[in-house]
Amino acid sequence: MPGYGTCLAFVLLLAVVPCPSSSSSSSSSAPEPAQHTLGTGSSLSVEDHWRPFLTSPDGTFSCGFQDAGENAFSFSVWYTDAAEKTAIWTANPGAPVNGRGSRISFRRDGDLALDDANGSTVWESKTSGGGGSLTISLLDTGNLLISDSDPSTGGRTLWQSFDWPTDTLVPSQPLTKDKKLVAGYFSLYYDNDNVLRLLYDSPNISSIYWPNNPINDPFQNGRTTYNSSRIGVLDDNGVFLSSDNLGVHASDFGPGVKRRLTMDQDGNVRIYSMNASTGGWAVTWAALGQPCSTHGLCGQNALCEYQPSLRCSCPPAYEMVDRQDWRKGCKPMFRPVTNCNQPPSPSPEQQFKFLRLPHSDFYGYDLQFNQSVTFEYCKKLCLKMCLCVGFSYKLEGQGVCYPKSILFNGFTSSAFSGTIYLKVPIDFDASAPLVTARSAAGLACDPNISVIVQRSEGTFSRTGNGTKWPYLFAFAGVLGVLDIIFIATSWWFLSSKQSIPSSLEAGYRMVTGQFRRFTYRELKDATGNFKEELGRGGSGVVYRGVLDKGKVVAVKKLTNVPWGDEEFWAEMTVIGRINHMNLVRIWGFCSQGKHKLLVYEYVENESLDRHLFDTDRTTLPWRERYRIALGTARGLAYLHHECLEWVIHCDVKPENILLTREFDAKIADFGLAKLSKRDDGAGDSMPLSHMRGTTGYMAPEWALNVPINVKVDVYSYGIVLLEMVMGCRVCDQTTAGGERLQTPQIAQALRQVVATGNVVPLVDGRLQGQFNPRQALEMVRISLSCMEDRSNRPTMDDVAKALTACDDEDEHPAYR
Ligand SMILES: *[C@@H]1O[C@H](CO)[C@@H](O)[C@H](O)[C@H]1NC(C)=O
Ligand SMILES: *[C@@H]1O[C@H](CO)[C@@H](O)[C@H](O)[C@H]1NC(C)=O
Ligand SMILES: *[C@@H]1O[C@H](CO)[C@@H](O)[C@H](O)[C@H]1NC(C)=O
Ligand SMILES: *[C@@H]1O[C@H](CO)[C@@H](O)[C@H](O)[C@H]1NC(C)=O
Ligand SMILES: *[C@@H]1O[C@H](CO)[C@@H](O)[C@H](O)[C@H]1NC(C)=O
Ligand SMILES: *[C@@H]1O[C@H](CO)[C@@H](O)[C@H](O)[C@H]1NC(C)=O
Ligand SMILES: *[C@@H]1O[C@H](CO)[C@@H](O)[C@H](O)[C@H]1NC(C)=O
Ligand SMILES: *[C@@H]1O[C@H](CO)[C@@H](O)[C@H](O)[C@H]1NC(C)=O
Repeated sequence: MPGYGTCLAFVLLLAVVPCPSSSSSSSSSAPEPAQHTLGTGSSLSVEDHWRPFLTSPDGTFSCGFQDAGENAFSFSVWYTDAAEKTAIWTANPGAPVNGRGSRISFRRDGDLALDDANGSTVWESKTSGGGGSLTISLLDTGNLLISDSDPSTGGRTLWQSFDWPTDTLVPSQPLTKDKKLVAGYFSLYYDNDNVLRLLYDSPNISSIYWPNNPINDPFQNGRTTYNSSRIGVLDDNGVFLSSDNLGVHASDFGPGVKRRLTMDQDGNVRIYSMNASTGGWAVTWAALGQPCSTHGLCGQNALCEYQPSLRCSCPPAYEMVDRQDWRKGCKPMFRPVTNCNQPPSPSPEQQFKFLRLPHSDFYGYDLQFNQSVTFEYCKKLCLKMCLCVGFSYKLEGQGVCYPKSILFNGFTSSAFSGTIYLKVPIDFDASAPLVTARSAAGLACDPNISVIVQRSEGTFSRTGNGTKWPYLFAFAGVLGVLDIIFIATSWWFLSSKQSIPSSLEAGYRMVTGQFRRFTYRELKDATGNFKEELGRGGSGVVYRGVLDKGKVVAVKKLTNVPWGDEEFWAEMTVIGRINHMNLVRIWGFCSQGKHKLLVYEYVENESLDRHLFDTDRTTLPWRERYRIALGTARGLAYLHHECLEWVIHCDVKPENILLTREFDAKIADFGLAKLSKRDDGAGDSMPLSHMRGTTGYMAPEWALNVPINVKVDVYSYGIVLLEMVMGCRVCDQTTAGGERLQTPQIAQALRQVVATGNVVPLVDGRLQGQFNPRQALEMVRISLSCMEDRSNRPTMDDVAKALTACDDEDEHPAYR
């Protein structure tokens, strides 16, 4: 389905560009020619990170300090020409040094050491004692070498970076026994049986996931266990040969290309080739064709789905452990059985039931395996086994039954025929509010205002659209023409959690390519000292502004933000990541003391209420109404179901649906919840106007003291949908006695319309019959279902699907 953008697109690009270093305090200012060999006593301070420590004789490789995040640096080797200086070796992976006062030194005693600002040595080569004849050189292969130039020892090598690979091999650098490429919990290494494998190894769970076609058996994958030399090398032609009989080659096979083989953060191993003209990297081989084949990406109890981007989700009755990190997986929302020694007091049948999860399975961890058994037998088996947390049952001619002790490596795909049944306590209510369990997590949900709360489902996406995954398993001798698609280099990193800076410096900072931090001064200038007011809402006043490059923006001055810089920043990293064509795009923010401002895309054609309810405007044609309804549903579905963060809008109403010049809907004001906390007792008008603006769109459960979930938006959407059909405010409708209509009465009326199928009397008379009755009836039907009790309301995904199904561009409005 088009339009479903990538939620994490921002994160992918989240290479935080540092502030221009204000103190280039180094006195050595004269540009020196790049060295490729240095003697002892040489050093480089991190302030001079723009300068390499060494370059290789032919200039292919450089080594020096490399940006590793906010004011953080690592000491690395990289391809000089690479657009992003992707490290091929790093002295201190995962332990960056401070951007001020740190230093790499080739000490007088021959030790190469990386010292942090506070004087602690983060890393050293441990080559001290070699004396004054030692030199350090960067070779044309990318190998950083400490050797003894003393002729008596004949140029002995004391240390080389090739012996300490981090996550990458370059051509001619061997991967050998006891060495591995590591990225997070993933590693590429030679196993005890001489086979090159990929392993996921977290503190709690480990599993091997490559070679994997179709099972982990080496011989079935064309490997052998017989050759114990355990060596794998990428050569200059892009061929990687391993002693276990694995032989693969890059799709751009041939000499003259700069390549690397990298264990990526997503658990795949890839060969990358450099584009000589752009310095960008393209994938020319990948070990796994399907991202969900990697184990552990979604963590324990979670499901992996790839369609069209990788998506992790928690099964019903489970929720995310850590909303920042899918690798931690999901945890049950019920109390799991911990003691299996006690005999169950009520019988298991009275204690547990099963939730059905079609098209899904969890790989491995089977307690046993039975063929030709009935579903009832399989169910009883799982009930009987205390350790069983669920079972998989497949009807493949005969019933196949796998009771599971651990739910891991879960995947879901509509093409998959198996079904998994999750064991849950009998009193577990699958339709219970989703929020309750989380209120304690510091993300308290104030039901009276919009909220951002964690959701138990989310998306990982990669940048780049239309990128396909090569399916391939290459074996020695089968080096045929491989259908490799070049994949953009920008890669997403699971590990790149947003670092919330501990101290915010003045000035602005890039967060991503487009989302940035502005200074107050900038926004004051851009808006001509907040001259042109565009509108006012519960959370603040919106002004028109023009940025340097002539880009028109809407600047919202938030009122009542009781937050400090860091909390605000944290919230912005959430909102800033949200990006969908039916949501108003946020370009950046400003947070300076009490000044809290948001910078939005400027949406030209005002809000839906003006077009729908203003009597002096031309009637909004049916086609547009339908498109706006669909766009709004898609935008909300994205907020509810696609974003990594679970965002409830809480204030869906025509005023918050903005229209572009082409009448595309863009939802405004999402995610503002926690930014505009209300002062209780202050008695200012903000909450009042907020309440007034929303009356008529608020789900009945707002009045009850229950935790709020996404279904409040579904209700409000239902009202807006009805208003688009009717062309008037639903809350202005009254009974014959002059009383405001209540939800049950509205629903009653709609039920009649749906039952009779006669939608004409309900439709906006100003359309003069120019509408599509099939679509109108469907809109009424959806609207009605949105007004049901919340457990019966559809999700916004359902709504978007239902509307899409009756979107018929060719059909002309019927005349009646
Ligand atoms: C220096 O800082 C690092 C991390 O910032 C810390 O782990 C280390 O203990 C500190 N060392 C000293 C000597 O203070
Ligand atoms: C084992 O592998 C190495 C490296 O691929 C190769 O040179 C050697 O000939 C192999 N040994 C045998 C017995 O096949
Ligand atoms: C290198 O990048 C340029 C620009 O994106 C592209 O036109 C060219 O085809 C690329 N070359 C290779 C070998 O991929
Ligand atoms: C491992 O398990 C412990 C306790 O069960 C949990 O706290 C921790 O988060 C788990 N770690 C991962 C990576 O899942
Ligand atoms: C199921 O498998 C277990 C062990 O694998 C076996 O003891 C049991 O008899 C099997 N049951 C059926 C109905 O095949
Ligand atoms: C929400 O508003 C109602 C009435 O205005 C109030 O009684 C209730 O305490 C509020 N709830 C929260 C969590 O602030
Ligand atoms: C990919 O991008 C192209 C143009 O940029 C667009 O037409 C197409 O719909 C996009 N496809 C997806 C799946 O987003
Ligand atoms: C806004 O919509 C009206 C129709 O109501 C249209 O005539 C006008 O051109 C639109 N304005 C802009 C700036 O697109």
